[in-house]
Amino acid sequence: MATRMTGPGILATENDEKRAEILALLEQAYWMEIESVMSYLTNSINPDGVRAQEIREALEEDIQEELGHARLFANRIKELHGIVPGSLDFNPEQTYLQPPGEQTDVVHVIKGVIEAETGAIEHYNRIIEATDGVDWATQDTAIEILRDEEGHRRLFEGFLREYEAEGRV
Ligand SMILES: [Fe+2]
Ligand SMILES: [Fe+2]
Repeated sequence: MATRMTGPGILATENDEKRAEILALLEQAYWMEIESVMSYLTNSINPDGVRAQEIREALEEDIQEELGHARLFANRIKELHGIVPGSLDFNPEQTYLQPPGEQTDVVHVIKGVIEAETGAIEHYNRIIEATDGVDWATQDTAIEILRDEEGHRRLFEGFLREYEAEGRV
């Protein structure tokens, strides 16, 4: 085992308990991103119709961003002496982003994306609070990713607004 440092910082031995707590939060964040990649891939292909095109393209872009987030979380897990989990540890949770009964049901997809982004925003706020004053680098990463998720949610809220204005929701 490499020489461990003492003193301030999340890698100090006296912060082992805190580090374990942060690693658990990071692991969950990693899986949330991976599941979003799967769900957004599905929903960037399934929807039918003229207006579904816009949603499909937006999700196409988000797939790359969410994959980038997963990579950032995975690297941070390693930096904190954790191990990036294998696929057998994955437990799906995004019930709301399963394919709708009708593939023209774009509102179902928009609402599902908003729910996924909201879940991510809540979880990353949790990470920002848990790391405050003890793990600045993880906090910085979480803040950067949080901004992306808030942007994603805002984009899909705009899509939903358009359908609401037409009384389709
Ligand atoms: Fe993300
Ligand atoms: Fe996102």
